[in-house]
Amino acid sequence: MADARQPEQQHPTRKPTGREAARAHQRLEQRNALQRRFGFDAAASVRFVLGQALPLRGRVLDIGTGKGRFVIPLARHLPRVTTVDISPAEQDVARLEAAYAGVADRVTFVLADARALPWRAGSFDAVTSWNVFHHLARPERVFDEMLRVLKPGGKLVLADFAPSGFRIMDAIHRAEGRRHPHPPSRFPHWRARLLKAGFRVRRLVACHQEVLAAHHAD
Ligand SMILES: C[S@@+](CC[C@H](N)C(=O)[O-])C[C@H]1O[C@@H](n2cnc3c(N)ncnc32)[C@H](O)[C@@H]1O
Repeated sequence: MADARQPEQQHPTRKPTGREAARAHQRLEQRNALQRRFGFDAAASVRFVLGQALPLRGRVLDIGTGKGRFVIPLARHLPRVTTVDISPAEQDVARLEAAYAGVADRVTFVLADARALPWRAGSFDAVTSWNVFHHLARPERVFDEMLRVLKPGGKLVLADFAPSGFRIMDAIHRAEGRRHPHPPSRFPHWRARLLKAGFRVRRLVACHQEVLAAHHAD
């Protein structure tokens, strides 16, 4: 249920045509192919993280929709999933990709700042986030919000690039004449916070990803 103080914002959209969705998918695949040439396979990474996250049940929230690389494969395993992002442009890409993948009716896209999620405490059975945290200006606030909206007994899955993944992203951005700034990893800090909050936590590293899969002990 959305918090009455700040109702869920659905970005107004029309249903994309098949051709629009196919074109957007092709663009995303070109980017994925470039990343694979540099050694990062986004699909393999998502499969690995999903392997740590599943099974999931009940209400599931994904933080940082981006282009939907994570939430769309996730949606194949669930009747419904909600995803939140601050950027309408990013969610538009993800919406096209959801249409292409045939899961548009399973994904609820919400535009909001994850530093102040528009849901009451304990609204979700699981909260996930894939490769978002290094983009956040205030990760501590977002982490607090993820814990707040999670039900007692819920599952939290936090994934971001491992150092090898950041090296690959840096190389791609350098080759494009751009930069990919990222703060030092705070995974030991997030793990300590989860343990302190009463979670059982597994930490895994593979596919250039670091993952914390945490289950609240109730
Ligand atoms: C690289 S993308 C994440 C990849 C994405 N999870 C995927 O599966 O494709 C990072 C996303 O975090 C979003 N973001 C950054 N700060 C945010 C905030 N405060 N609240 C919500 N989303 C935020 C950005 O708009 C961007 O879409």
